[in-house]
Amino acid sequence: PAPGWALTADVVVVGSGVAGLTAALRCEAAGLDTVVVTKARLDDGSTRWAQGGIAAALGEGDTPEQHLDDTLVAGAGLCDEEAVRILVTEGPDAVRRLIGTGAHFDESERGGLALTREGGHHRRRIAHAGGDATGAEISRALVEAVRARGLRTVENALVLDLLTDEEGRSAGVTLHVMGEGQHDGVGAVHAPAVVLATGGMGQVFSATTNPPVSTGDGVALALRAGAEVSDLEFVQFHPTVLFLGAGAEGQQPLVSEAVRGEGAHLVDAQGTRFMVGQHELAELAPRDIVAKGITRRMREQGADHMYLDARHFGADMWERRFPTILAACRAHGIDPVTEPVPVAPAAHYASGGVRTDRHGRTTVPGLYACGEVACTGVHGANRLASNSLLEGLVYAERIAADIAAGREAGDTGGLPVRVPAPVSARPGHPLLPPEARLTLQRIMTEGAGVLRSAASLRTAAERLERLRTEALTAFEEHGKTAEPGVDTWEATNLLCVARALVAAALLREETRGCHWREDHAERDDTAWRRHVVVTLTPGRT
Ligand code: SIN
Repeated sequence: PAPGWALTADVVVVGSGVAGLTAALRCEAAGLDTVVVTKARLDDGSTRWAQGGIAAALGEGDTPEQHLDDTLVAGAGLCDEEAVRILVTEGPDAVRRLIGTGAHFDESERGGLALTREGGHHRRRIAHAGGDATGAEISRALVEAVRARGLRTVENALVLDLLTDEEGRSAGVTLHVMGEGQHDGVGAVHAPAVVLATGGMGQVFSATTNPPVSTGDGVALALRAGAEVSDLEFVQFHPTVLFLGAGAEGQQPLVSEAVRGEGAHLVDAQGTRFMVGQHELAELAPRDIVAKGITRRMREQGADHMYLDARHFGADMWERRFPTILAACRAHGIDPVTEPVPVAPAAHYASGGVRTDRHGRTTVPGLYACGEVACTGVHGANRLASNSLLEGLVYAERIAADIAAGREAGDTGGLPVRVPAPVSARPGHPLLPPEARLTLQRIMTEGAGVLRSAASLRTAAERLERLRTEALTAFEEHGKTAEPGVDTWEATNLLCVARALVAAALLREETRGCHWREDHAERDDTAWRRHVVVTLTPGRT
C-alpha cells in the first residue's frame, strides 16, 4: 500500500531504547525538529531489560586505557581500536550527562557511584541502578525526558523501508502503524536524516534474553536499502540464563553477570567449579569463554544446564543487590538463597549490525545507526559486558552532533523522494506467514546456535530457503500471500537477517570470539583477521 499519512521532520529516530532516545534528545537540544517512531511502546525494547549495568572508567584508579584494554581483549582481534578509544574516553562524561538527564544510579556507602564487576573486566567499573534494574531506570529517565521536552513520538509503528531521494540519500521511512488514531495504517515520515536505533535480533533464535520486539527490523531495512551490514556471525550467547526446561522458547529470564561479579560460582550437578583453571578470571572470563565452558561441560556430562551457586550471598544481599533476579527465580519456583540456580546459555546480543563510521554514518548517505542495530566496530568478535548501554549513549551523541553540523553546513536534502515498492509487492520476495517464526527460530537454534559447523549451517541455509520458497509458491501458484501486519513483517525481517547471519557464519571458517565452529576449532589470524560484510541489491529481501 502507498503511504496513507505523512509527517515531516529534520530527523526521524527509529527506536526508543537508550540509543534512540539519547539521539532524539540531543537532536532536539541542537534545534532539530525530531520525530521518534517505535514499534511498540516507548519503553518496550531491550534497554528496559538490561540488568548488570553500564561500564565506564568512573572508579578510583580506573582509566579509559584500562577499559580499552579489556574491550580489545574481549573483542578477540576484531575491534576497531579507534572506535573503542572514542567509547571509553567519551563514556564517563556521557554517563554523567545521563545522570544529569535524571537517571539515578546506586551509590556506595562512601558516597559516589557503586561499581560492580562483570566478565572480562579487570576492575569494578559497572554502574548500576535499583540493584539489578539498570536498564529500567535508564529507560524511565529517558522516556520522562522525551515527554517533558514534548518530542513528537509515534508508538506501535513498525518501520518498513527507507525512503531515498533521486541521488540515493535517505529521505525518511515508511511505517506500518496499528491503533494510533490519525497515524493508523501505512504512513511515512519524511526527513533528510534517519537514525536507526531498532535494537537487536535475538528473536532469530528459540531461546533468548531479548523481548519479543527484537526481530532485526533495522538490519533488514538496511539490507533492503543496500547498506552494508557487518559481523552478523558474532552472536553473543549469554552464559547464565535461567534454565526453564529443554524446550523453553521465547524471552528467558537473565541472571546477570554481576551475580558472578559479586562472587557467585558456576558449578555442575556434582558441585564442581568447572571454570577454575580454564581462564585466569575463572567465572569472570569474557562471556564467550564462559559460554563455551558451560556448553563443553554440558556436552561432557550429557546435561542440558549447569548451576550458578550464590547461596553464600544470604537473603539480605540477594534482596538488596539482585531484587529483579531473585523475584524472577522465585516466580519459577527456584530460591537462590537456598539452592543453586539452573542456568544455560541463550542468545543475548548481536555484536554485528549495520556498518557505521565513527560518527554513526552508514554507507547510505543520511542513514545513521546506533545501539545494538549498529556495528560501530567497538565490539569486534565478542562484546565486553555492559559496553552496550555505553555504546548506545556515546554514539547516539556523536550522531546528533554530526546531523546538527550537517544542517549548519546547509545539508538538508530536499530532492524528490522515491517510494520503494512495499516488500509484499516485490517479485520473488513474499511476506512470510507469522507461524513461520517458530520454525525459523528452531532452524537457527539447531544450525547456527552456540556451536556451529559447515554441515549445520548448510542445513540451516537450506531450511531457511525452503521457508522462503514455500511462501513464494503459495503466492505464485495459489495467489495466497500473508496479510501485511506487524507479525508478518517481523517474520519476513527475521528471515532476511537469519539468511544473512547464516551466510556470514558459513564463510568464517575459524573459531573467534562468540563464533564457535566445531569444524574449524582454532582462531586463524592469517586468513580471518577481517570482517564479513553483507549487502543486498536495494529492494531485495
Ligand atoms: C548482564 O547483566 O549480565 C548483562 C550485561 C550485558 O549484557 O552487557
